[in-house]
Amino acid sequence: MSDANGKKIRLKIRRQDGPDQPSYWQTFELPYEPQLNVITCLQRIAELGRTADGQKTTPVAWDSNCLEEVCGACTMVINRRVRQACSALVDRLLAEADEIRLEPMSKFPVVRDLVVDRSRMFEALKRIKAWVPVDGYYDLPTPRLTQNEQEELYPLSRCMTCGCCLEACPQVNPKTNFIGAHAISLAVLFNSHPTGAAEKQARLYALMEKGGLMECGNAQNCVKVCPKEIPLTDSIAKAGRALTFASIKHWLDR
Ligand code: SF4
Ligand code: SF4
Ligand code: FES
Repeated sequence: MSDANGKKIRLKIRRQDGPDQPSYWQTFELPYEPQLNVITCLQRIAELGRTADGQKTTPVAWDSNCLEEVCGACTMVINRRVRQACSALVDRLLAEADEIRLEPMSKFPVVRDLVVDRSRMFEALKRIKAWVPVDGYYDLPTPRLTQNEQEELYPLSRCMTCGCCLEACPQVNPKTNFIGAHAISLAVLFNSHPTGAAEKQARLYALMEKGGLMECGNAQNCVKVCPKEIPLTDSIAKAGRALTFASIKHWLDR
């Protein structure tokens, strides 16, 4: 199928009918329209219901929510690069390649087609208590952060648990329980918060455990793929210093 000038958008999609099912590729063609994003293409494919060679098929499953690169739900591998489908513009993709290739992230279990189960990321957030406790015996209201502190911490708060940093990280594989760069960075964020610091020790212990900070191999892939440009390697270095300090203090206090 093509537009009046014959221009087409060709998408090759890795599909999987359910967890633990074999994957397979299907190719789809859409008439070219300017200013589409990948999510719109997936909507057009669902309406079409046919592959490029005319075979009837089921709609491709994908996940999305905010459609403005805030929720992280639509993260997938697009032309071999992990990113959000809602902000992946077709015109830019076609300027770099003849077709658009979509795959689910490989470091998470596939639920169906492009939908993956990101639970391991949320379990990691529980491990490091990624929240500010407000129902304890702490001095409230919270002391104010200085302008400099706010500027330093705000970028860390932009994490949307999308999974790009885990997808790119060589330490995230079936043999490890590595917590991931997102969780390390959020531990730094919440430990730097005046009220969040009430859980500082628990977060440091979580980072010391198996699967914690020590398993980071410092490959620095995470920082290169983070769509929110979070300074992940700075956070990893800061967390490392905090762990060293806590270990020395623990040793001196014995
Ligand atoms: S740190 Fe960046 S890449 Fe990792 S989950 Fe958060 S937003 Fe995504
Ligand atoms: S620095 Fe390397 S090993 Fe550590 S979290 Fe980032 S990608 Fe993974
Ligand atoms: S739909 Fe929320 S980031 Fe794409």
